[in-house]
Amino acid sequence: MDICDGYLWPGGVQILRSFYPIIEDCIKNKKPLLGICLGMQAITTYFNILEDAKNSLKLDLETIYKENKEKNPYLVKVENEDMHLNIVTKEKESIENASHDIFLKKDSLLYHIFDCNCLSIPSMHSFTVARIPKDLQIIGNASDGTIEAVEYTKNNSFLLGIQGHVELLEDSKIFDWLVRYCHMKYQVLVNKKYALQEDNPFQIVSYQSLYPNCIQDGNIEIGVLSSWIAFRDYERDHGYFIDIESAFRTTELQQQIYEDYKKKYGLEYVEAYVAKPRHSEHETGLAIDIAMRTESGKWVTNFDEAFLECHQFLKENCAQFGFILRYPENKEEITGYHYEPWHFRYIGNEVVCKYIMENELCLEEYFEKEKLLMKKAKF
Ligand code: DAL
Ligand code: ZN
Repeated sequence: MDICDGYLWPGGVQILRSFYPIIEDCIKNKKPLLGICLGMQAITTYFNILEDAKNSLKLDLETIYKENKEKNPYLVKVENEDMHLNIVTKEKESIENASHDIFLKKDSLLYHIFDCNCLSIPSMHSFTVARIPKDLQIIGNASDGTIEAVEYTKNNSFLLGIQGHVELLEDSKIFDWLVRYCHMKYQVLVNKKYALQEDNPFQIVSYQSLYPNCIQDGNIEIGVLSSWIAFRDYERDHGYFIDIESAFRTTELQQQIYEDYKKKYGLEYVEAYVAKPRHSEHETGLAIDIAMRTESGKWVTNFDEAFLECHQFLKENCAQFGFILRYPENKEEITGYHYEPWHFRYIGNEVVCKYIMENELCLEEYFEKEKLLMKKAKF
């Protein structure tokens, strides 16, 4: 599970015991899960078991996980000749014949993903969900009332279950969603408006930068380390010798930097360049200020005119390693900070990083576009 950034459960015949820890991994580590058909039944079964356990109802887990679905008290068998029970092939006509409408709840995940309130999806299942526990939201129903889709979006978790076979649709929006929501743990916004979370989930590890005046050794968030090293080495292989000037900073250090710069350069300057304590991305360990060693052995920390080429190369390649340029030119009004060519930010999700860099967005603009994220996620 450690190497999985998100999960896709396609249909199948049996709810496996291994599904149980996967759901826990999703909730704990903010990984998205898309459960299709049996996948949705597995999600609803999991939450039903939890709810009954809370109500001290004794449940035989082995029966639910090991035996067939007939013995699962949370599912009911579909009658023959039902609109839900079809045999579908990949032929267009077969898909159309097996499809029926599902009606989506406003502002639910599916409603946002497909940008509509009714979807026609091919249906091929012999069981349906009998009961939905309180922790899950029903977000889609068929015209006969059958539960067709559920979500769990508490605490920045994204579990989505859908009974119909969305993989047979031409529209791939739901899979695009799943991929973008992978690595959600790192898709956090810390800026002038949003402070660092009280329970900072980021773990800092040591890193020894070769830059001699490096702040706090260049220590960095644990999940960023290998991506940073790969990025650094890639740059070096192409003739740009870079390392960390400043990555993780404690809140105390951020406060000190803020005060020192204010004294030295005045309020206007700090407001444009230095975040207040608890409002700096550096306190997460996800931000890196990059220094570059020139051929003459001199280190530079500002990529001005003379180092445009190196900066261009950093910008072109950062996304494939999960980084973005955080404070781009001409976005001062939105980010609240002056252009910082040295400050890169780990997001982790390559697809999201490429989207941001290719469209010349700043992180605030991405979150604004991704309204669903802003709405559901608590930062
Ligand atoms: N220079 C950035 C804004 C910081 O202090 O976090
Ligand atoms: Zn910085």
